[in-house]
Amino acid sequence: MLEPAYNPVLVDPFDHHPLELGKGFWFNPGNGERYFVNNGIPVFLPEHQMSGNNLKYSRFYDRISRFYRISSVVYSRMKGSSDRAIKTKYLDLLGIKPNDNVLEVAVGSADNFLYLPDTATYSGLDISYGMLTMARRHLKKWKIPAGLYQGEAEHLPFKSESFDVVFHVGGISLFNDSRKAIAEMIRVAKPGARLMIVDDNEASPGKSGHKNPFSPLPGLTGTSENDSPVKMLPSGMQNIEVRRLFDDMLYCITFQKPEKISVLEISPTS
Ligand SMILES: C[S@@+](CC[C@H](N)C(=O)[O-])C[C@H]1O[C@@H](n2cnc3c(N)ncnc32)[C@H](O)[C@@H]1O
Repeated sequence: MLEPAYNPVLVDPFDHHPLELGKGFWFNPGNGERYFVNNGIPVFLPEHQMSGNNLKYSRFYDRISRFYRISSVVYSRMKGSSDRAIKTKYLDLLGIKPNDNVLEVAVGSADNFLYLPDTATYSGLDISYGMLTMARRHLKKWKIPAGLYQGEAEHLPFKSESFDVVFHVGGISLFNDSRKAIAEMIRVAKPGARLMIVDDNEASPGKSGHKNPFSPLPGLTGTSENDSPVKMLPSGMQNIEVRRLFDDMLYCITFQKPEKISVLEISPTS
């Protein structure tokens, strides 16, 4: 893996205490917790701590990780398009500027990084070690220097206000706690940062005929809030825009973190 151009300050994902680097692990001097580094990927959630959907989907994505990218490429061709054309439709909305520090939450096999400007720096977190292994392979092949982390979207191991752009594509309906994940995305975003959430629109009438076979099937999803995803945003967010893409198959929410926001405002309400 190429050395990432940006190393965000790492904190304990559960109490946000800054971590110190030991030999092969990150260490919380406050409570003695150690987070080991596995082949260059710091692991912030050993499997025995996972539960519910997070455990189920980390195993699901571990199993399909080797087929994930190829399935996206084949699927886009079957639709008469290309993976780049489909993904840039929403990735371009991020408005990434030179030197931006960008985080993708649930980065999967890092496919999106291939289509983003090489003038910014990238970090990605995912719950599935299998997907991260594929990400590491892709990043090496594509010569993209990026930091990879294994952990839960609901508990990010980054210091507050670390990133200029934070985004998520395709998976938030599977998380144990989607609202908590959004609150975490906002916590680690800098004041004024741009955020984006893209996911399947489970309510779309035409969806069944357009489904990528390696996306989990309807009925396996964890929340019905996709019908009105914007309701998951805490109050106070600015410039909120909701777009429906590809015949209403996907929704895309972009918004901005205000320059000033209280911790209370971004705490999930449920
Ligand atoms: C459909 S894939 C999307 C991957 C990538 N964002 C993309 O656009 O190709 C969903 C990803 O969400 C990850 N995931 C599921 N639940 C998660 C959670 N609670 N925290 C972090 N990642 C999670 C899965 O491991 C999987 O890599």
